[in-house]
Amino acid sequence: MSEILFINACVSNGHPSRTLLLAHYFLKQLAQNTQSKITEIDLTKENLQPLNEKTLAARTADLDSKQLLKPKFHYAHQLAAADFIVVAAPYWDLSFPSILKVFFEHTSAASITFTYTEHGPAGLCKACQLYYLTTAGGVIGKYNFGYDYIRGLCDLYGIEKTEMFAAEGLDIENADIDTAMNDACRKIDLYFAQ
Ligand SMILES: Cc1cc2nc3c(=O)[nH]c(=O)nc-3n(C[C@H](O)[C@H](O)[C@H](O)COP(=O)(O)O)c2cc1C
Repeated sequence: MSEILFINACVSNGHPSRTLLLAHYFLKQLAQNTQSKITEIDLTKENLQPLNEKTLAARTADLDSKQLLKPKFHYAHQLAAADFIVVAAPYWDLSFPSILKVFFEHTSAASITFTYTEHGPAGLCKACQLYYLTTAGGVIGKYNFGYDYIRGLCDLYGIEKTEMFAAEGLDIENADIDTAMNDACRKIDLYFAQ
């Protein structure tokens, strides 16, 4: 059975997360269409720490000596092995919550998710597709730095296709939130109807 790795970066803002709602709507269809099981990493519950001088030095030594089975590389192995990757993150400060960046610091491990060759970096991830779900208070427009970063990371990891689904304008005064959310769900329906 294929595996969908669901990376949940929906840090709660005191209300049920609209991004998580959209992600669940999407995941149900992806799991059905691909006959996959879902494995979730809830970043709001993991005890993830940014790399610092000490942990970076230890990690570099482990990577250099190919000690790749240490627990610290667990996230990288999970990401490398998944058949599909789904990331859900609210649009924060033109990007996404920093916990997601910390997660990718941990997955960006040479020899696990990518490697260096004489022709440059080459991806080692199995997944051919990453999906990104988000919701935004305003309009994302050209300031889509979170998704742009993830697309770059997919190039590095060897994940060929990315797709984003978003509901925008949710915090604009008098916004019709239900319509914006429904519109995003219809786009998901259309995607799977293709
Ligand atoms: C810390 C923080 C930063 C945010 N930054 C932005 C922003 O830069 N642009 C924007 O349009 N909305 C911004 N918003 C609004 C969120 O994108 C919006 O409320 C989103 O729907 C939250 O998703 P959620 O319901 O899953 O929590 C921000 C919200 C928070 C809490």
